[in-house]
Amino acid sequence: MRIAIDGPAGSGKSTVAHALAECCGLVLLDTGAMYRAVTLECLEKEIDPEDVDSVSRIAKEMVLTFGVDEAGKQTVVANGRDVTTLIRTPEVDANVSAVSAIPAVREAMVALQRRMGQEGDVVAEGRDIGTVVFPDAEVKVFLTADPKARAHRRAVQRAGDDAAVNPQAQANEEDERKILEDLKRRDELDSTREVAPLKPADDAHHIDSSSLSVDEVVSQIVTLMDEARKNEPESKDAAKPEPEPKEDGKATAKKKVAKKTERKANEDADIEKFDRKSFDSFYDHAVREFPLPARALLGAAIGVCGALSKTFWHWTLQDGKKLWKAEGGRMVVMNHVSMLDPVLLVVSDWAHGRRMRPIYKSEFDKNKFVTWFFSRIGAIPVKRGTADIKAVRRAQRAMQRGEDVLVFPEGTRIYSDDQEVTIHGGFALMAQLAKAPVVPVAIVGARDGAPGGNKPLRPGRVWMRVGDEITFDELGVKGRKQQAAAMEKVAMERVYAMRDELRAEHPGKM
Ligand code: DC
Repeated sequence: MRIAIDGPAGSGKSTVAHALAECCGLVLLDTGAMYRAVTLECLEKEIDPEDVDSVSRIAKEMVLTFGVDEAGKQTVVANGRDVTTLIRTPEVDANVSAVSAIPAVREAMVALQRRMGQEGDVVAEGRDIGTVVFPDAEVKVFLTADPKARAHRRAVQRAGDDAAVNPQAQANEEDERKILEDLKRRDELDSTREVAPLKPADDAHHIDSSSLSVDEVVSQIVTLMDEARKNEPESKDAAKPEPEPKEDGKATAKKKVAKKTERKANEDADIEKFDRKSFDSFYDHAVREFPLPARALLGAAIGVCGALSKTFWHWTLQDGKKLWKAEGGRMVVMNHVSMLDPVLLVVSDWAHGRRMRPIYKSEFDKNKFVTWFFSRIGAIPVKRGTADIKAVRRAQRAMQRGEDVLVFPEGTRIYSDDQEVTIHGGFALMAQLAKAPVVPVAIVGARDGAPGGNKPLRPGRVWMRVGDEITFDELGVKGRKQQAAAMEKVAMERVYAMRDELRAEHPGKM
């Protein structure tokens, strides 16, 4: 699959393409970096960017590759030298439009980009990807943002920060003003040049990133990829029906068809294959598809935890039917007071024939045994505070398969009511993508039974209550962002309201 992302400088193409490459295992093709590398070489050799012949020669002779540094970041290697940072200077910015407008330079770069595009599934970002480089790309996106937002992002980047990660980041006003002027000048040059000007392909999806986060843009593109994938095999097969075997060559033709079918079946089997040594397989497959030993372990863990926890804490789940009804996957959100919370809820869902995937913070993965065990019981890690699109997609797919996903939006256990609580809104996005309702659940008493820290477990009682599921439609709000924000608020309000009811019914219990 090829994903083409075009758009003006600073629209977020690069950040989005990086995130997409990482989350979906795509080869990343930063075509702007290639024009920049040619420009740098010209500047270093003191070749005038207007000297068409000399610049063209440099472009044709240049050996350009992408590498990876120790931190796993992509590097740009020109004639054997790492030029990743050298190509991001104001001097290169000032001259790259002139260099990239030269037809012979474009010809050399486009040929190279197409060769690189054959290396596998690729996400390419630039100005002419959807129109010239990969006009038949399966997904085409034209990313824009208002010029001020773009200038701000670039200025923050120059100051060594990242506006996508740190929305509060500030940059020098004068720098921002100069960058804005330069961006406008480059937009003008890039869109009005004769060869391959910056313009959206007719079939491109337009996304304005001015007020969207990186993960929101990435999610939109991943949805487009899913749609393209759904359409692709059928439409391709339909477009190319198997030729009717001719009378004389019937046997040979039949053999060919059989071979093709076999090859396709093997390819499908490859995609579906469960690699029991890979944690990813456990995160990406349904619990029902886990290998038998893992399912046996999960069953045993559920049995032991269920029996011990019932004896020790006599827990009850009020209105559990709302959770157990066997229709589609739901996003379950709960307040988090102790390590018992996920155990009790997963156990009760499991006992009623449902499968629940708890989402846990990836900090736990420092301990390899924990990673191993959590993967076997169906838990999925999430990197908090980042655009962890991988986790979002895993949760989305689990719900689409009919599994429940359990999220603790407070992000960590709340040991006391004085503790500051930050709600992590990722759950609303996951539910939105899966078109799943959100089910609020409250728990009281578990903090007394399992207080955390080095404090010992204490017998006692635990009460849980399940609220009515909340759908996005019933929120009465329009727009994806607004709906997600409303869901975060409403779902957590219901959790806390039920928690307070339970506390009122069982005074002194936490
Ligand atoms: O995306 P960027 O700012 O790194 O791109 C640098 C320049 O390269 C930009 O001003 C236009 C040019 N470019 C191009 O003409 N075609 C591409 N496919 C990518 C970039």
